[in-house]
Amino acid sequence: MVADNAISIADAHFSESAWFRAIYVGEDPAGFIMLHNGYDYEDGLECHGVFLWRLMVAGPYQGSGVGRGAIEMIVESLKARGISELYAGCGQGPSSPAPFYEKLGFVPTGVFYGDDDDEIEIVLRW
Ligand SMILES: CC(C)(COP(=O)(O)OP(=O)(O)OC[C@H]1O[C@@H](n2cnc3c(N)ncnc32)[C@H](O)[C@@H]1OP(=O)(O)O)[C@@H](O)C(=O)NCCC(=O)NCCS
Repeated sequence: MVADNAISIADAHFSESAWFRAIYVGEDPAGFIMLHNGYDYEDGLECHGVFLWRLMVAGPYQGSGVGRGAIEMIVESLKARGISELYAGCGQGPSSPAPFYEKLGFVPTGVFYGDDDDEIEIVLRW
């Protein structure tokens, strides 16, 4: 399940480890991205590295490379900080964004999240 953006922004304000930005296409707001830097375990995230906490591309912009572009920009910025991997969590099932992450090169780590272990941890390394 994908959290509402308002919930994500509220989460971010309660976490010193959150970094979040709007995604724009030209002048138009087209999505939202949020990272967790892995230092604050009170946020309920068990990942030790930089974690893609939320990613949402607005319906009209989906499927046009916006999500890929946002991840590529994040990777460039992490590279500049000497970081060489980005973790994410991904639900499974028919509406899962897993194919998107696979196309970008993310692979499963073997770790599962959630009460029913229904979310898999994935990682992109460079
Ligand atoms: C999942 C999401 C972030 C992908 O962003 P996007 O801008 O639509 O994806 P892109 O256009 O950059 O796609 C990159 C590649 O992944 C593929 N892809 C994207 N979503 C896909 C999906 N659901 N199933 C299969 N392939 C998908 C695209 O076809 C494209 O492939 P190509 O490079 O061969 O052309 C976006 O669709 C979204 O916000 N969905 C709703 C919220 C959500 O699921 N967020 C993720 C929470 S973990």
